[in-house]
Amino acid sequence: VIAAKGGANQVQINHNIKKTLAKVVDYVPEKREDKTAYCRCWKSKTFPHCDGSHNAHNKESGDNIGPLMVPKS
Ligand code: FES
Repeated sequence: VIAAKGGANQVQINHNIKKTLAKVVDYVPEKREDKTAYCRCWKSKTFPHCDGSHNAHNKESGDNIGPLMVPKS
């Protein structure tokens, strides 16, 4: 766990993704050929797409995080 500047009760959840940016913002494409899974755990190596890394996180932590599923457009 990495402590953030804001106080003892705040922690960073993004440890690796686009850390040079002030804010990570991604857009869902308007046209999609297939359904797409977008990461919400910040652990995917293919961010913003889910690569299943949430499964290991959930197993280790007891958490229940899963991806945002966006259907074909
Ligand atoms: Fe992050 Fe699946 S890898 S939600």
